[in-house]
Amino acid sequence: MRAIKPLIAALGLSLSFTALADTQVSVDTTKPGPVINKNIYGQFAEHLGRGIYEGIWVGPKSKIPNTKGWRNDVVGALKDLQVPLVRWPGGCFADEYHWREGIGPRDKRPARVNTNWGGVIEDNAVGTHEFFDLVEMLGAEAYVNGNLGTGTPQEMAEWLEYMTSDSKSTLAELRRKNGRDKPFRVHYFAIGNEAWGCGGNMTPEFYTHLYKQYASFLKTPKDNTPILIASGGHTDDTSWADHLTANVKPNWALRMDAVSFHYYTLPKGDWTVKGAALKFPEAEWMSTMVNTLKMDQFIVNNKKVMDKNDPEKKVGFYVDEWGTWYDVTGDDDPGFLYQQNSLRDAIVAGLNFNIFHKHADRVHMSIIAQMVNVLQAMILTDKEKMVLTPTYHVFKMYIPFQGATSLPLELKNVPQYTLGSASIPAVSATAARAKDGKVYIALVNANPNKAETVDINLAGITVNGVSGQVLTAAAMDAHNTFAAPETIKPAAYSAKAKNGKLALEIPAKAVVVVAVE
Ligand code: AHR
Repeated sequence: MRAIKPLIAALGLSLSFTALADTQVSVDTTKPGPVINKNIYGQFAEHLGRGIYEGIWVGPKSKIPNTKGWRNDVVGALKDLQVPLVRWPGGCFADEYHWREGIGPRDKRPARVNTNWGGVIEDNAVGTHEFFDLVEMLGAEAYVNGNLGTGTPQEMAEWLEYMTSDSKSTLAELRRKNGRDKPFRVHYFAIGNEAWGCGGNMTPEFYTHLYKQYASFLKTPKDNTPILIASGGHTDDTSWADHLTANVKPNWALRMDAVSFHYYTLPKGDWTVKGAALKFPEAEWMSTMVNTLKMDQFIVNNKKVMDKNDPEKKVGFYVDEWGTWYDVTGDDDPGFLYQQNSLRDAIVAGLNFNIFHKHADRVHMSIIAQMVNVLQAMILTDKEKMVLTPTYHVFKMYIPFQGATSLPLELKNVPQYTLGSASIPAVSATAARAKDGKVYIALVNANPNKAETVDINLAGITVNGVSGQVLTAAAMDAHNTFAAPETIKPAAYSAKAKNGKLALEIPAKAVVVVAVE
């Protein structure tokens, strides 16, 4: 079609017949693929800036309405998001966190310096019991990140015993004394974080030895055994996934159920000057998209080494930190990593989800960094005020994909979005059959200048039309503020099929999620 268009224009003709759309999408609903784990939609709450304190935790005595210290407005918004999983307490913070400092009466807990994030005083008001109050209120699974960097195998083993034992051991009794009779359900437990960097500057070989040592002592009751996660690599480094899966076999008594991976989208690809969250030029829109799409190849490369060492795919690949990372916005301490969140972030989220779905056979978890007030957040707060970001809206639009069965999808004739020497496919898509039995399709148009036409061919079902939502806005950096909280929000989107065929127009810079009717 693209080849014909200039010819028609040159001949002075107009397209008066029903034209074929540029992008052709084929979905085969008769060939179900792997399940999209609900934990692809995981969230991260680190002791970092206003990510926990003020952002979600205000304490039981606060004037801000709260339940057990957790603010009602933020928890309510997160419940609407059906948050499946929360990772805590870090991040880099995890490798300096000593769990015993976060239990018992809050006014007796020690104050520490948060050396990673702004050097502020950490008063340990949020500890193990408070964290589980939050995940239980949200109905989410708990992902606890253990301290390998400055802890010991004994400290880590005892934390797990404290949380999971239903016995009469001194640690289980201490938990009871602190107000919790029944054990906490620990679904996931990680041994360290970013061992290649803030977690200890280790090599994969050195970390693998430590992993084995620590994992040997993590003993939990049979009905409360967490999925064990090893700290893996980042960006284009596959050596961690390779070394770990080659040396720690999943079916040994010594378990390793998953290897983690971190990759952040930096507009300029440079940690010194990352790029602004707002008022950026189109060149930075483009470079943000280019850098986001690299996620696909990073996963492909890691899957290749894992498939060699673990062909049965027993070990998961968990992208447990992803998202945009800009130069800090506002007056906060730069160490607080607070940034605004715009339509560009929404597109980044949609592109990443479509990539994670494609790799659902190995990627069973992904966690955006972070939940509130930090990096690519769902929610921003300013004391008692709260605002939902464009990223929040995309997470909500994608809810039907949690636990859905992926469907094979083929994209053809996708037009390129080009700017200078950079060029990317404008359209990205994913499809799945959700738990409600309906087929859902998500489409992202990364081109900020041009709407894209898309024909969708669905094998195996009759199509009458689609309905769902679209998220878009006029400006590339459209965003919500406390004064104007609804500048960008989803709008209804629907289309009727003609002769059983679907032809959609996806606006410029938009995310569309529809159910097939
Ligand atoms: O998410 C912020 C930080 O980024 C995390 O603490 C760390 O793991 C990563 O480097």
